[in-house]
Formats: sequence, C-alpha cells, structure tokens
Amino acid sequence: MPVNIIVGMQWGDEGKGKIVDILSEHHDVIARYQGGANAGHTVVINGSKFVLHLIPSGILREGKTCVIGSGVVVDPQSLFAEIDQLEKGGVNIAGRILISPRAHCILPIHKDLDRASESDTSQKKIGTTGKGIGPAYADKTARIGIPMFYLLDDKKLESAVHSMLMVKNSLLTGFYSKERMEPEFLLKEIRSFIPKLQPLIGDTRSALAEAMKNGKNILCEGAQGTMLDLDHGTYPYVTSSYTVSGGACVGLGIPPGKIDKVIGVVKAYTTRVGEGPFPTELTDAIGAKIQEEGHEFGATTGRPRRCGWFDGPVARYATEINGVNEIALTKLDVLDVLDKLSVCVAYKVDGKVVENIRDDVSILEKARPVYKEFDGWKSKTAGVTEYSKLPDKAKIYLDFLQEQSGAKISIVSTGQGRESTIVKNK
Ligand code: IMP
Repeated sequence: MPVNIIVGMQWGDEGKGKIVDILSEHHDVIARYQGGANAGHTVVINGSKFVLHLIPSGILREGKTCVIGSGVVVDPQSLFAEIDQLEKGGVNIAGRILISPRAHCILPIHKDLDRASESDTSQKKIGTTGKGIGPAYADKTARIGIPMFYLLDDKKLESAVHSMLMVKNSLLTGFYSKERMEPEFLLKEIRSFIPKLQPLIGDTRSALAEAMKNGKNILCEGAQGTMLDLDHGTYPYVTSSYTVSGGACVGLGIPPGKIDKVIGVVKAYTTRVGEGPFPTELTDAIGAKIQEEGHEFGATTGRPRRCGWFDGPVARYATEINGVNEIALTKLDVLDVLDKLSVCVAYKVDGKVVENIRDDVSILEKARPVYKEFDGWKSKTAGVTEYSKLPDKAKIYLDFLQEQSGAKISIVSTGQGRESTIVKNK
C-alpha cells in the first residue's frame, strides 16, 4: 500500500501533470496537498488537451478518487470551470472528487488584494499569478479566512465574512485606495456556490487513513516547485504554500512514517515565471529557442516563461530537501535542436565557488553559474519510448544530470502525450 509523493524540483512547470497522469494508473487515490488554481497541469490524452489547475490530474483516469486536501486553497469559480471542461471532454467526475472541509476558500476579495498588491509600486513585485493565492493563505494564517466547513453553517459564515471584511476593507480602501467590498455582496457570491460545492466536501483525512488501512495506493500531488516553497524557496519570490514533500503530510494529514517514495519531477533545462533570482537564465537566442521549442508559456496566465540551463545545485538541493528517491525527467526532446548544451555544476559568488544551496538563498541573486559543456545530440528523441534507443550523446547528458541531482532517473518524458515516455527498469 504505497503512499508516494510527486514533487517539483525547480520553479514549477516541470511537467508534473503528465507524470501524475502516468503514475495514476497504479494508484487508487490521487491527492493534491497545496497551492490553488495558480498551478497549471497540462495533460494530453489521445491528442486531446486538458489543463487542470486545481483538480488532481488523476481525474483523467477512470475510477480514480481525487482528493483536495486541507493544504489547498480552493477558488470555487475556477473549480466549477474545471469540472465543466472535464465533463465537456467526456470525463465522468461523479463521486470522484472529495474536498477537505478544512481547505480555505479563495474569494473575490483575495483576487482584488492580489492584484492591488502587485500593482502597488511601493511593494516588491513578485509576479504572482493574480489568482488570490497569497491573500487567501494570509487570511488562513491570520485566522480570519473562510474554510469550507463554514459554508455548512450559515451563521458562522455570515459572522466570519463580516469580521474578515472589516480587516480587509481597511486595507483595500485605506492602503490601496480601492473600493470597499460589501459583506452582502460577498455573502451572496459565496451562498450562490454552496449548493454545488457542498456535495464535494467530505472528510478527506479519514478517507485517506481508511484507504491506507485498506491497502490502497495513494499518490500525493504537489503543485509549483521546491524553489517556490514558502520556507525553503527563493523568498520573497515564492508562492504562499509548502510545495516540498513535507507539505504533503501537513496538507493531507498523512503521518510522515507512511510515506514510501518521493518522485521528483525535473525538466531537462530550467524555467521560471515571475520575478526572482534565476542563475542559469538565458536571455539570448538560445533561451528564446528553448522557449519556442518547449512552448514555454504559462498554462495559467499565458506569460512567457524565462528559460535557462539545467541547474545542478538546484536539483541537488531539491533531492536533499524532499528526500527524492527517483527522478522523472521531462522535456528531453526540447533540446534535440541544440548544438551545445551547458549544465550548471556550481556557482561563483563574490569570487568563491559555491557548490550547494544553503539557507542564505539571497546569494542566488549574485550567483554566476559555473558550467560544464556538452555536445548536442542533434537528432530526434521526441516520442522515443525505450532508453536504449536514445542517442549516445543524450544518454551522456542524462547520466550527468543524474549525477548532479543525486538521485536516479527512472522516467524520461520525450513528448506531451502519455505514450512519449521512457520508463527505465519497468
Ligand atoms: P502566486 O502563487 O500566484 O502567489 O505567485 C507567486 C510566485 O509563484 C510567482 O512567481 C508565480 O509566477 C509563481 N507560481 C505560482 N504558481 C506557479 C506554477 O504553477 N508554476 C510556476 N510558477 C508558479
């Protein structure tokens, strides 16, 4: 009855959706543990594309149960839009989605505040997705948020909305000079989605405990990536949740001793959306080429992703902090066209060589990458399904990434579709 965790090893967009979809086949329950509709997991099945923001990618496998844990923040509008998309695509979701009563709601006020803080010139711009994530988690932590279980008790809901808006309106009208939000408006909005939401709310923690007792396989799905973790990422340029594997225990209520395996997902190069340090960023024609070949545009916001070389210290850090046992490496095929490739093995900071990322992440702002160069394989890996069929130069590159990361690569993705996948040691 394994409990496995999928975690992003970089700044998100590693291709976790596809890997979750593949591994879902061997799991009964797929459980999302943090984040909200800021994530964008693209999965292509038989040529049909599904973009999931909140619902675990396991929903695309018939009969699998999908859990949204207490660590997730749920925007009901976005959830319903996703359900509509799935139903239109022929996916039967009846009885397959269970949302924790402890998961907090993202409300229109949170999106307003997210946008207001991002456009306020006196504050550091983070480049958020504008989905209200930070403000919703801030309210949760300040104990003025709206968890799902308040929706089941109208008196509690009404009093909580009034209390929250007292605080939030002073910020909105005072600091940001925006229009206040009336409690009646927000309550009407919330009450309008309760009938549709209520049937989906259930005791996810007990359901997971029961599933473990009954020998079911559970896949815990992380969103974003290690370097965007609130505690362990490149603060303040991070998201507001715990993206690392430890977040799965908190965000789902699973005891740490029950975790069997952590699968880290890493791209064959690096991307980042939004602001913040990115030592291996390529602002030249090669970066533009990778962006074009890899279709590196955000699945949630459509923003172009910054592209750069594979960063060894980031991968080593992710392996260590998440306890990565195996790596799923994605988008190898994007590099097919390149003559030369570089891999960052260390940084130079103030003239000193730094091999590993430590708690002083601010050094990344001045880190200069130390590179090892490789010859490109200049042939097609796209669609290859057997490791032995990869060009020798691609194998050399992969071996080096494995050595740099400190964990074995067990899956290599060579294209968007389910079928374009190499599973080593099946
Ligand atoms: P937020 O999560 O919308 O508050 O954004 C905080 C930071 O995390 C910004 O730099 C976003 O671009 C980044 N971010 C949030 N979600 C994702 C994701 O799914 N992929 C990549 N970056 C993300």
